[in-house]
Amino acid sequence: MKPFLLNAFAMNTVTHQSPGLWRHPRDRSREFNRLPLWLDLARLWERGLFDGVFLADVLGPYDVYSGNARGAVRSGAQLPAHDPMLLVPAMAAVTRNLGFGVTASLSYEPPYLMARRFSTLDHLTEGRIGWNVVTSYLDSAARALGMSRQRAHDDRYDFAEDYMAAITRLWRDSWEAGAVLTDPVRGYADPDRVHVIRHKSAFLSMEALHLCEPSPQGMPVVYQAGSSPRGQEFAARHAECVFVSGPSASVVGPRVARLRQSLVAAGRAPDSVKVLSLATAILGATPAEARDKLSDYRSYVDPEGALVLMAGWLGVDWSEYRLDQKVRFIETDAGRAAMENFTRADPAREWTVGDVAEHVGIGGAGPVFVGSGGQVAERMRDWAEQTGVDGFNLAYALLPESFEDAINLLVPELQTRGLYKTAYAAGTLRQKLFGDPAAREVA
Ligand SMILES: Cc1cc2nc3c(=O)[nH]c(=O)nc-3n(C[C@H](O)[C@H](O)[C@H](O)COP(=O)(O)O)c2cc1C
Repeated sequence: MKPFLLNAFAMNTVTHQSPGLWRHPRDRSREFNRLPLWLDLARLWERGLFDGVFLADVLGPYDVYSGNARGAVRSGAQLPAHDPMLLVPAMAAVTRNLGFGVTASLSYEPPYLMARRFSTLDHLTEGRIGWNVVTSYLDSAARALGMSRQRAHDDRYDFAEDYMAAITRLWRDSWEAGAVLTDPVRGYADPDRVHVIRHKSAFLSMEALHLCEPSPQGMPVVYQAGSSPRGQEFAARHAECVFVSGPSASVVGPRVARLRQSLVAAGRAPDSVKVLSLATAILGATPAEARDKLSDYRSYVDPEGALVLMAGWLGVDWSEYRLDQKVRFIETDAGRAAMENFTRADPAREWTVGDVAEHVGIGGAGPVFVGSGGQVAERMRDWAEQTGVDGFNLAYALLPESFEDAINLLVPELQTRGLYKTAYAAGTLRQKLFGDPAAREVA
């Protein structure tokens, strides 16, 4: 088995995937709005040789639960939601190898501006930037940005296809390689090799010269996280890395297999995309210590915050349901794969609303692996064998404790089993992820 990729899953907010845990005395999430926390985290993740940090983002409050944002405000469930991009240069300044996968929604910002910000970040990080391409799933964001509601689920992907066509042309075709001369006589750049890109479609109209000169990677590494049939079609055309989430290997495995088939149908190799599975590790020096930690963490979970998050992800107002009611598939304009996770993806498992709230209370929709470093390393190996994923996107219960434990207790056990690298590869984020014959190992 190839060494796993490991990503840290985080967000510029007080409550990302573990509602209520900000109240734990050892948790530092409350410091999310100041740089020292993020600088400490960046250094920590790099010490653990993490391939990257995946910064989630939403552009509106979770207001599906009870039809208002009061639950999100009270619990801090992904609210406040500060801008993730602005963290990147600071974290890049204290690291040399960590990658940055930043979520940005293409539904509300023209490709011209998006292209500029990612190119700027690719320059400033010296080629370590990735873009998690999302279309958003909250109507609250659409209303805040001047629409009455978000586009319908599949229409969002039609729009996204067109958007990608426009933005990649800005990155690839506006500035030719070698256009920048920095020649005191011939000039800074060659006007014959810098081009205006014209894109006109039912959705977008753009006549633009890209405002940035070519960056180390040319364009960010493209991440994607939608798993519906349309989401996977989109990934098969554009993604280099895909994030998946599901509560069990029997839910995630078929999804990964379908994605690999979609890649083949799109003319790409089935392993041309790196798939990372959401998971949370609760670790102790002994199995008993890990179990004690989990029950301690559980005592801080905020059930209302869990229902608020779940309502936003699935597009269903759970306040209208009893906790012992069965969750059934309903077609909504929020996340299709998120809905399937707890309904028809695994017919052998029935979930009540209360079960789901309890499950997502620690680490969101992914599995929670509890045990010593060795035990969790074995669970991860089993999960990867059963699902065919390339690595894990690690959510946290406590910040930074969950990541410190992963680095001190889990990483060495993975390394001993040959399941994790012992040094970073050289090069840009894309070269580190996909290999580069010219790359050599760096400490
Ligand atoms: C692990 C994971 C992380 C995600 N992070 C974000 C995010 O930060 N912001 C966002 O708007 N959507 C996020 N999504 C949602 C997806 O981008 C997508 O909109 C959603 O899964 C619905 O697409 P689907 O119906 O094709 O599955 C995430 C999904 C997964 C599985």
